[in-house]
Amino acid sequence: MVPEKIKLNSIGEVNTGYISLLEGTDLPFDIKRSYWIYSTPDDIIRGKHAHKELQQIIIAVSGEINFKLEDRFNKQYNISLKHPSEALFLPPFVWREITLSKDAVLICFASKEYNELEYIRNYDEFQNLIKKYNK
Ligand code: TYD
Repeated sequence: MVPEKIKLNSIGEVNTGYISLLEGTDLPFDIKRSYWIYSTPDDIIRGKHAHKELQQIIIAVSGEINFKLEDRFNKQYNISLKHPSEALFLPPFVWREITLSKDAVLICFASKEYNELEYIRNYDEFQNLIKKYNK
């Protein structure tokens, strides 16, 4: 599994507005937690971690969110979410650095409850772990 930007269905039209949706059958995991991030100052880089187990779907409900990613194969990605009909799937072992516009609201649907023990918060440790995994 690799990081992937997904286009969601939009139902509606310009005169009435739109609904976008995700259904269980669209997801590779059952949602166990959701959280949202907002009012992030422009000069702040969030993330700076990877997860050992967590899978996530992330949506920019408003504003713009930029992701600088590195996956377990050392492949790098620059992905932007600029519209609520776009989502980003993140598998485990993706180092992420995230910047958000001040008006951005990031919502995340996650495959597990919060567990600090499955975070990798040190970039060198991330590199060591993926090296082991790729052997
Ligand atoms: P963190 O995941 O490090 O946020 P970001 O990557 O956006 O900078 O979480 C920030 C803090 O919030 C950290 O102390 C853990 C806490 N937190 C929870 O308690 N529960 C959660 O579900 C999340 C996502 C974070």
